[in-house]
Amino acid sequence: MERREFIKKGCFACIAVGAGIASASLSSCSTIPIIQSTVDIDRIAFDPANFEEGITSIRLRTKKFEYDILVVKSTNGTYAAIYMQCTHNKFDLSSNKTQIFCTSHGAEFDFEGNVTKGPAVQPLKTFPVISKDEKLFVHLV
Ligand code: FES
Repeated sequence: MERREFIKKGCFACIAVGAGIASASLSSCSTIPIIQSTVDIDRIAFDPANFEEGITSIRLRTKKFEYDILVVKSTNGTYAAIYMQCTHNKFDLSSNKTQIFCTSHGAEFDFEGNVTKGPAVQPLKTFPVISKDEKLFVHLV
């Protein structure tokens, strides 16, 4: 094989492998809609229509709180609201379809805020979600 042909085939193989890795990592990180919200006294209202087909979680972002509130819709139609501040060292949390996780030191949490993997030991702060007049409300109590 000539040098030029070797380089050509080598570059093609690198691109193919790179594309495969990128595709695999993209499929594991889905984009969660961020909804800009306002706090009305002690609650945040949001539209259940934000949970369109296939969307199981949204992030509510407010000026009042430093971290987002993740709202997750379960398969039985109930909602959970979790404050996305890691209890280990206050890092901003991430989530996927199955769990909440911290990219700082690797702690993991379920959608009820319970620790499933350390180093965090304290559960995440959660809020009740109430349905009223075709709206949903995260109660900040
Ligand atoms: S800050 Fe989240 S695991 Fe350390």
